[in-house]
Amino acid sequence: MAEQRERTFLMVKPDGVQRGLVGTIIERFEKKGFKLVGLKFVWPSEELLQQHYSDLASRPFFPGLVKYMSSGPVVPMGWEGLNAVKTGRQMLGATNPADSQPGTIRGDLCIQVGRNIIHGSDSVESANKEIALWFTEKEVVGWTPAAENWVYE
Ligand code: RTP
Ligand code: MG
Repeated sequence: MAEQRERTFLMVKPDGVQRGLVGTIIERFEKKGFKLVGLKFVWPSEELLQQHYSDLASRPFFPGLVKYMSSGPVVPMGWEGLNAVKTGRQMLGATNPADSQPGTIRGDLCIQVGRNIIHGSDSVESANKEIALWFTEKEVVGWTPAAENWVYE
């Protein structure tokens, strides 16, 4: 089923790594039933982050955002599943943790918009662009989990 192959790009931001939240964040997506298809640990350059957030280049917070995001290692990830983009964003919660519902990652684990611990693609198109920006083709792995028929009917 092609719909079950939708991919999103998620990334634990430097504050999430520094605060020891990588495992907790991965666990939420694993438990949900989404499939991990790419994962790495990198200290990104400012150039890469300027490309990643190029849509926000004219915003006043852009220089601070690039500085924050390049201040330490991050964990870029590809996740696959039915409605992975939309459901992924719902699991992250609102951009500003002050507005994120309890039960969401940002709602439960952070306080300020400038330290909101995780990125998630906002559309399928962005997801495909972001996966191609952060991963080589070989780094994205297609596979069939043993439990697939217990996640999807
Ligand atoms: P992200 O791309 O990181 O998943 O976040 P998002 O879609 O929920 O929000 P977006 O508008 O794309 O903003 C990207 C990141 O910029 C920082 N930000 N700071 N100071 C501010 O008003 C402000 N607004 C946004 C946040 O780190 C946000 O996640
Ligand atoms: Mg965004």
